[in-house]
Amino acid sequence: MTARAAATVLLAALALGGCDDQIKHLEQRTPFFNTMSWQPSVETFEERAPLPVPGTMPIDGERTYDLMAADSMLVSPISGTEADLERGAELYSQFCTPCHGVTGTGDGSVVGQNRIPDIPLLNIRGELTRGYTDGYIWGMIANGRGLMPPYRRIPAMDRWYLVAYVRQLQAEALAEEAAEAEAAEAEAAEAAAAESEGNETPGTGGAP
Ligand code: HEC
Repeated sequence: MTARAAATVLLAALALGGCDDQIKHLEQRTPFFNTMSWQPSVETFEERAPLPVPGTMPIDGERTYDLMAADSMLVSPISGTEADLERGAELYSQFCTPCHGVTGTGDGSVVGQNRIPDIPLLNIRGELTRGYTDGYIWGMIANGRGLMPPYRRIPAMDRWYLVAYVRQLQAEALAEEAAEAEAAEAEAAEAAAAESEGNETPGTGGAP
């Protein structure tokens, strides 16, 4: 090693040492100036961090209900005012339309070939979903079920606004179905009337 190379190595070592010294010095003068690596932490392959005692609740948290508990225990605290529905519509368009579609028939933008399968259960305005309790639908949003992922990040109260909005979509579906049935009935009656008119063959029962 030439003298020059040796001097370079020595200088580099001094420089690094100096840097380390500076940090140590700072830490001594300002105890809070500890690097993050000095904190108590769980290192790789160490034991798992202890889990909270079962039943523990975060102080800013809310009680969770699984689907069946929500179904049997919870009743909507809101009456479905215009403001409730407005909030529900906003949340619905943010969280639910991609899969359930704007009207709830299940024709969302992510449904189809090579995406979410187009299954009848995606229709949440039909008879099946109408039959569920409000608590069930609330619990469905919180917990998911089958192919539907949980949306627990939607706060509890917002889930009730969503339930109210889903009920409105269902009411609209009911009204549509009733109108369709009425139209079909009227058409059938018209067809029957036309047929009976057509059956009146001339010459029978007429004046002599
Ligand atoms: C990623 C797609 C997706 C999103 C987003 C989504 N859902 Fe679902 N949802 C599903 C699927 C899939 C099912 C059928 C579940 C199954 O497989 O049992 C379902 C089922 C449901 C059902 C039960 C239908 C029944 O009759 O059994 C309700 C109620 C429901 N969703 C409400 C909502 C609401 C409200 C939102 C918005 C907060 C939402 N979903 C967002 C995919 C989704």
